[in-house]
Amino acid sequence: MGVQPVRGTRDLIGEDQRRHAQVVAVARRVAELYGFAEWQTPIFEETAVFARSLGETSDVVTKEMYTFTDRGGDSLTLRPEGTAGVCRALVSNGLTQALPQRVFYAGPMFRYERPQKGRYRQFHQIGAELIGPAEPLADAELIACGQNILAALGVAGEVRLEVNTLGDAASREAYRGALVAHFTAHREALSEDSRMRLAKNPLRILDSKDECDREIVAAAPTIDPYLTSEAREFWDGLRRGLVAFRVPFSENPRIVRGLDYYSHTAFEFVTDALGAQGTVLAGGRYDGLVAQMGGPPTQAVGFAAGIDRLALLLTAAPPAPRPVAVVPLGDTAEAAAISVLQGLRAAGVRAEMAYRGNLKKRLERANKSTARLAVILGEAELARGIAQVKCLDTGTQTEVPLAALAAFCRNDPTPRKA
Ligand code: HAM
Repeated sequence: MGVQPVRGTRDLIGEDQRRHAQVVAVARRVAELYGFAEWQTPIFEETAVFARSLGETSDVVTKEMYTFTDRGGDSLTLRPEGTAGVCRALVSNGLTQALPQRVFYAGPMFRYERPQKGRYRQFHQIGAELIGPAEPLADAELIACGQNILAALGVAGEVRLEVNTLGDAASREAYRGALVAHFTAHREALSEDSRMRLAKNPLRILDSKDECDREIVAAAPTIDPYLTSEAREFWDGLRRGLVAFRVPFSENPRIVRGLDYYSHTAFEFVTDALGAQGTVLAGGRYDGLVAQMGGPPTQAVGFAAGIDRLALLLTAAPPAPRPVAVVPLGDTAEAAAISVLQGLRAAGVRAEMAYRGNLKKRLERANKSTARLAVILGEAELARGIAQVKCLDTGTQTEVPLAALAAFCRNDPTPRKA
């Protein structure tokens, strides 16, 4: 039996877990302000939920899905992202007539990618999906929510927003023709991956990170001249909306996104602080996905953010909690100490008690832990209805009546240290 975690997975312990929890808590709080309700969908779904919807030629579907046959012979897949499952759930739960739905989620996702800093095989996302509205103002509001989350986490200064339009189907069809013409003219110089994409999904070449492709991609046409008037109107509406919501942005015509369900809006919040894996929060409009899951034609826009990446960006890790250590002196004091311990907890004070050792040992242990106060209870103290409370940072000792102990511990000004 192996003793290491599976490649691309990590244990979240101590500060790592506190960072993750902080990202989720802050995102959840901000999403609530925007009216989002949290959903939990299963971690695995029928493979069909992802295979078509994310794009048959996308990297996620062709190379990265954890797909397996279960004992009943069904093909199942660990979710590589959250949007397809949310759309499936909308349809399965008969909610397609109860629009709009504002859905927030947080949880693990799975992709068989090459692990590196900020990229894992089990990673974690928070996400928000706004299902129903067709107006570009909805896209702007959703992006504003993402921006607010980044600001509330204190990382907005590290991150910039880039937006693009992918137009509607007619715009993309016309653009596709122009791209095929451009890339075919340079076919021989393209990377092998890009040559393959040329036949299947030429738009994705724009996203190529390959050195060979760089110049050819830079010279490629943009979608702008190929936008239908409706698509142009939507794009104008999005940019006006972002101004109205006071979200700063720049336009980047090279954003195409790695999943195929997008139309019109595509956006990414990116940072230079994480090396190659710089996209921290990204999404766009996906007007066809609910229908693909068997629902009626339904408009929607959403984003997801990598919790692992945001956790790396947090400058200050949330400090470790500092409990009060209850230290009984002698066996007879122990029963009374348990009652004090439980009383503190009932009063909302984080408290712990070690089960072994003399006063010196227990104080040493409390000192080594993150405890801020030691509540020392000997026979003499108990007889007088008091405790000796020692501040473990300064060594100051105070006599505190047991009746006032919880209040004393709660009001103790000892700072929380990391
Ligand atoms: P995505 O761009 O594939 O979009 O992923 C969103 C974010 O998840 C990325 O920007 C990144 O921060 C994080 N992420 C993705 N893969 C990994 C990985 N292997 N390791 C660590 N972090 C990762 C989606 O998933 C769409 N569902 C977003 C969306 C929601 N579009 C509409 N609604």
